[in-house]
Amino acid sequence: MTSRVDSDRRFVSLPLLRGQRALVTGANSGIGKATAIGLGRAGADVVVNYVVGREEADEVVKEIEGFGVRAFAHEADVSDEGQVVGMFARMFEEFGTIDVLVANAGLQRDAALTEMTVEQWHKVLDVNLTGQFLCAREAAKEFLRRGIVPEVSRAVGKIICMSSVHQIIPWSGHVNYAASKGGVLMLMQTLAQELGPHGIRVNAVAPGAIRTPINRSAWDTPEAEADLLKLIPYRRVGDPEDIADAVTVLASDLMDYVVGTTLFVDGGMTLFPGFATGG
Ligand code: BGC
Repeated sequence: MTSRVDSDRRFVSLPLLRGQRALVTGANSGIGKATAIGLGRAGADVVVNYVVGREEADEVVKEIEGFGVRAFAHEADVSDEGQVVGMFARMFEEFGTIDVLVANAGLQRDAALTEMTVEQWHKVLDVNLTGQFLCAREAAKEFLRRGIVPEVSRAVGKIICMSSVHQIIPWSGHVNYAASKGGVLMLMQTLAQELGPHGIRVNAVAPGAIRTPINRSAWDTPEAEADLLKLIPYRRVGDPEDIADAVTVLASDLMDYVVGTTLFVDGGMTLFPGFATGG
């Protein structure tokens, strides 16, 4: 007897991204690293972009190759137009095309407003917002040039913007970062509206507090972690793999009708946990 799993294509898509080609920016550490590995495990060939940290990037490549797919590391600053164009050119040379872009690279340069320099402001906006614009533009050009390849995916292409709960939660002392992620929301929604008619799905994943180097001070002592957990109804700090799994499924045909959405992966951080007892 054929089980439901065998008889319905939607339930037998593992590995979910077989034959697809993905580019993950900022893929040598944290969420980007776990995501690159997750996409490789799901059957995709992966470009591991990094800007500093060649050795970590090479290790990620090795791990991905262990799944029997192709991978290479490529150094490029996502806020530099020429470097982004060069990175996509190399990807097309080596893999032929792109199916999935994960615009993940991001950073923080925290300061109170009155202490924040214009360099700190620009750096965060350049990497977190302009970087996503540049990568999305290059990916979209290729999706439009190539068109649909039905044996690979129902969509012409998929773009996933790495956002944050701070696309909607204001964050005192981090105005550059919060403004960049608020910008990512409108970038994503506008691109989803613009590219949807061409069969391109644009969405965002918005992580909450994930155990990575970017926020080490928020979880690396028991006191800090206890404070952080008060902001998380599910009472667990997230792991990079929580985000990798969400990105993998969102990029796959299982989510083919999901367009212009933000998937919050935050243990409930956006549920106003202060109101559990206050208000
Ligand atoms: C920030 C982290 C922070 C988390 C929750 C993320 O976007 O990069 O530093 O812990 O949001 O506030």
